[in-house]
Amino acid sequence: MKIAVIGTGYVGLVTGTCFADSGNNVTCIDINEKKIEGLKQGEIPIYEPGLAELVEHNAEAGRLVFTTNTAEGVKDADVVYLAVGTPQGDDGSADLSAMWSVVKAIAPHIREDAVVVTKSTVPVGTNAKIFGMLKELTGRECDVASNPEFLKEGAAIEDFMKPDRVVVGVRRPEVADVLQQLYQPFLRTEKPFISMSPESAEMTKYVANALLATKISFINEMANLCEKMGGDINDVRRGIGHDSRIGFAFLFPGVGYGGSCFPKDVRALTAMSADHGCEPTMLRAVDEVNERQKSVFNDKLEEHFGGNLKGKTIGIWGLAFKPRTDDIREAPALVLINWLLEKGATVKAHDPEAIENVEAELGDKITYCDRRMEAIEGVDALVIMTDWKDYHSPDFAEMYQLMKSPVVFDGRNLYEPERMKRRGYKYYSIGRPMVQ
Ligand code: UDX
Repeated sequence: MKIAVIGTGYVGLVTGTCFADSGNNVTCIDINEKKIEGLKQGEIPIYEPGLAELVEHNAEAGRLVFTTNTAEGVKDADVVYLAVGTPQGDDGSADLSAMWSVVKAIAPHIREDAVVVTKSTVPVGTNAKIFGMLKELTGRECDVASNPEFLKEGAAIEDFMKPDRVVVGVRRPEVADVLQQLYQPFLRTEKPFISMSPESAEMTKYVANALLATKISFINEMANLCEKMGGDINDVRRGIGHDSRIGFAFLFPGVGYGGSCFPKDVRALTAMSADHGCEPTMLRAVDEVNERQKSVFNDKLEEHFGGNLKGKTIGIWGLAFKPRTDDIREAPALVLINWLLEKGATVKAHDPEAIENVEAELGDKITYCDRRMEAIEGVDALVIMTDWKDYHSPDFAEMYQLMKSPVVFDGRNLYEPERMKRRGYKYYSIGRPMVQ
């Protein structure tokens, strides 16, 4: 099939590249000339394992091309994917201005039988609005489908190639057939292709993300309770997870969720609920608990340093909101760093991929370290904010030598408290007793 993908952000670029890889002819379109020029040279604007190789391979095979010319890009396409950004607006709702301008731009050029598909996460009812807009602009009832994306950063290619399920929202079953053909190569493992109304598909994406975010806020709240009452959240997690109704997935406590999806989608669904006269009690609580969790170490750090962090040097391992990405959007590490700087502390930080992005935001307010051990040299404490594999098994004896005081605040529960105690550390973690 001939496919046009509009928007070469995370979702658009991965979608276009994976469809090209399964043999389709894909044109990726973006209004950002610099980005398109870069992509033509093989420069990938984001860090995503495996993506650069896949872009190069499919571009060389002539199946993947990049352009800023929307009219040219969409005119022959069987399927036009809309994957532009839908950032959080001032009131928490999704800002759809990019979506509307793309719909206007494609309307005069799409084929009469083209299927327009929304891939971006959009408020419920957006599909119907696009359908209405295209009808007004073209005089025809165009096929507009919703096909929410569930991929995770850092595992995007794998998630796209081996989805747990594909969800599409359509008005006519024939449109679902077109999309099923497109996804057939990825559904060989008998994973379901689920067709429903556009509204249900739009809602599915929000409900999935809101439930996952709820699991995290829930376990974080329980972890904080455990600490107060003397329990160990890791034991509790094991104790509940074997119940098949509960399971183990997505119940790891930490320093709160970040990234481009959970915070934005929980808030957008909250705004939508309020717009429809519903009180989104749970959604608000999920966001509130998460915002608080990002500062979970503040009190402990203050207490540890006798209420005064001025002049203390804190090492930080992990800046990205999670491993295998350079994304720092809503990253808990940034919240901690800003607080530490306010308190007069000095910060040395390491991250395998995200340093450039943090540098663009914080400049020379902190010291950036290329090696993880450099970030702990002479520090009064180390705080672990991201569970990169690099931090799972460090040389604890070397660390002990390098640090000014052997104190670790572990926001991802990477180590065993008893072992840390034996190694001579004072060790704080999440939902487990402090040891020293
Ligand atoms: C998420 C969804 O998983 C994906 O389906 C959707 O399409 C986009 O949003 P992503 O933002 O890439 O993907 O990250 P994910 O791997 O889901 O992690 C989100 C956050 O939750 C991270 O900050 C992570 O550290 C945190 N997390 C995750 C926990 O704190 N505990 C857990 O048990 C799992």
